[in-house]
Amino acid sequence: MNRRLLLRSALYSATAATALVACDQLKKTGLVDTAIAQAPTVQSPAAAAPPLQGQPSLKRRAAAKGLLYGAAAQPQILTAEPDFANSFARECAILVSENQLKWEALRPTPTQFNFAGGDALLAFAQQHQMLFRGHTLVWHNALPGWFRETLTRANARHFLQEHIATVVGRYAGKVHSWDVVNEAIAPEENRPRGVRHTPWLELLGADYIQLAFQMAHQADPQALLVYNDYGLDYDTVQDASKRAAVLRLLERLKSANVPIHALGMQAHLWGSETRFSPEKLGQFLQQVADLDLQIFITELDVADVELPANVAERDRLVADHYRRYLDIVLAQPAVTAVLTWGLSDRHTWLTSFQPRPDGLPVRPLPLDQQLRRKPAWEAIAAAFDATSVRQLLSI
Ligand code: XIL
Repeated sequence: MNRRLLLRSALYSATAATALVACDQLKKTGLVDTAIAQAPTVQSPAAAAPPLQGQPSLKRRAAAKGLLYGAAAQPQILTAEPDFANSFARECAILVSENQLKWEALRPTPTQFNFAGGDALLAFAQQHQMLFRGHTLVWHNALPGWFRETLTRANARHFLQEHIATVVGRYAGKVHSWDVVNEAIAPEENRPRGVRHTPWLELLGADYIQLAFQMAHQADPQALLVYNDYGLDYDTVQDASKRAAVLRLLERLKSANVPIHALGMQAHLWGSETRFSPEKLGQFLQQVADLDLQIFITELDVADVELPANVAERDRLVADHYRRYLDIVLAQPAVTAVLTWGLSDRHTWLTSFQPRPDGLPVRPLPLDQQLRRKPAWEAIAAAFDATSVRQLLSI
C-alpha cells in the first residue's frame, strides 16, 4: 500500500482494528505522531485548557484533520540554534527550503551544482520524520550573476532540462512536493494570458511553464508538482485579476495534460488589510479544486508593518488576520497543507523586506523571538481545530 493510501485507510477505515494496524505502520514510517495514531479521546469539558506552551503542537492539530503544517527553514540557523531547531521539530511536519534550492544558491557557475544547503535541510527533515518540500525550480528572482550572460535562446532549454533533471533527480523519492514554477503570472504587465515578463519568457516563450512541469515529472514521478504564486488573497481589483489569470493558467495546463498536482498560494498577508471576501476567495478555491488540484498555503505570514506599535494589540491584530484567512481557505477541503514562511519572529524575511518605520522588531509569525507561542500560534491552532477532516490527503 502506498503512503497516501495507508494514511487514508488509517483515518477512514471502517474498522478500528484496521486503522490501528495501519497507524502502527505509519508510526514506523514516522509520518504521523501519536495524536492521530491513538484512538480518539473525548476531552472532559471540565478539564482546564493547558497553558499555551504545553498544548499539542500545530503539526499534531493539523494531522488530526489530515492536514500538513510546516514552515520554511535555513540550514545554518537550524545548526547554530538548537532551541530553534527543537521548536521547529516540535511544531512542523513538513519543511520547505527557504533559499537553498534557488538557482542562486545551487548554481555557483554554469557547470557546477552546490547541494550542501539542500542536503542539510533534507537531512534535518529526515532526522525529525518531516516531509521535505522543494522551492523553487523556475523563478525570475534569485538567478545567479552568470545567468544572463550565459543563457541564450539556443541553449536555454538545455539549461532548464539539465537543471531540473539534476536537482529534482537528486532528491527524487524524498520530496513531498516541488514548487516547479514560481510567480509566472502578472496581469498588471498586460501581456497575453497575463504572463510575467521574465528571462525564461524571453528565452523560451510562454511554453517554459509546461516544459518545466514535464521535466520535473520525468525526474521524479512521485513528487507533487506545484504552481506557486502570491497576490491571490483579498477582495481587491488587483487580486481578482490575478486569481482569474492564475485560474486560466491552471485550466490550460490541465487541459494540455501537463503533470501538475497543486496550486501553491503564498499568502504573504497584510495585517492592515480588511478586504476579505469569503465568497470570492472561496469560489476561486472551488474552481481550482474542480480542476482536480490540491491547494497548499505555502508561504503564510502576516506583515505588521502598518499595525500599531503596542505589542499586545499588534499580536491580536496579526492573530485575527491569520484566523480570518485560515477560516476561509480551510473551508475548502482541497486545501491540504499550510506552511508559514518561517516559524519564529527571530528569523523572518519581513525584518528586511517589510521593516516597521518605527524600527520595532516585526512580529509576523506563530512564535516570538524567544520561541514562545504567540496569539498567532493560537489562531492557527484554533483554525486547525475548527476545520473538518480532509478526505483528500496530501501525504
Ligand atoms: C525570500 C526569502 O525568505 C529571503 O530570505 C530571500 O532573501 C528572498 O526570498 N516569495 C517567494 C520566496 O517565493 O522565495 C521569497 O523568499 C519570499 C517571497
